[in-house]
Amino acid sequence: MTFWPYPRVIAHRGGGQFAPENTLSAIRKGHSLGFHGVEFDVMLSQDGVPVLIHDETLERTTNGHGRVADTPMRLLAELNAGSWFSSAFAHEPVPTLEAAANLCAALGVWANVEIKPASGHEVDTGRLGALLAQRLWCGAPRPPLLSSFQPAALDAARHAAPELPRGLLIDNLPPDWRMQLQALECVSLHCNAKHITADIVRDVHNAGYAIAAWTVNDAATARRMFAWNVDAIFTDRLDIISPDFAAGLV
Ligand code: G3P
Ligand code: MG
Repeated sequence: MTFWPYPRVIAHRGGGQFAPENTLSAIRKGHSLGFHGVEFDVMLSQDGVPVLIHDETLERTTNGHGRVADTPMRLLAELNAGSWFSSAFAHEPVPTLEAAANLCAALGVWANVEIKPASGHEVDTGRLGALLAQRLWCGAPRPPLLSSFQPAALDAARHAAPELPRGLLIDNLPPDWRMQLQALECVSLHCNAKHITADIVRDVHNAGYAIAAWTVNDAATARRMFAWNVDAIFTDRLDIISPDFAAGLV
């Protein structure tokens, strides 16, 4: 039985270690290294525009200050999201989800859109992220998989765009994982690789769901995950874990 019709090795935050995270250059980098699947994080600007960024605050990955949720899109659009990584990326903007979706379509790259709400904005981020994804990927051959650590965001996404597949992100397996996956009508569980065991993979599959592992940055762990039949892994190490790593093991 196939649980996972998506790429099995996914470039984390677009280009892993090889470009500033969650930027258009990162997605281009992942694609240029042969990756057909990328993951990126999506949060709302103050005025409700879904943008690619990981942290709730701007300091680590941009030249801005303060909270993403307090910053209107007009100001986010002026920021530089690449200089922290290297001067070669000095003109890298904070991308909108729309720009990222357009780029994925142009490159033929599948996306796992991680809904990453600022705290207190779970429902709006899930709803607006899903509605926009629904519009942007309308008619696309492969819709994105929406994932989140926040059940409230996934529930809002489920109401807004029920047809888009959903994955629940967790660190360690909670005792009620079956109930959560069922209630949110998810297709997959995305678990910290540190906490995955062969038994967990078997149990998740037996319950009818896919399991993906984040974030796998060494070949030995990648081999172990695939030996246990984990469906997909997220990686920053696009140099040592190739897009067809899983296929090479069989
Ligand atoms: O979606 C997998 C992974 O990205 C989850 O953790 O913190 O890197 O977004 P994080
Ligand atoms: Mg993420």
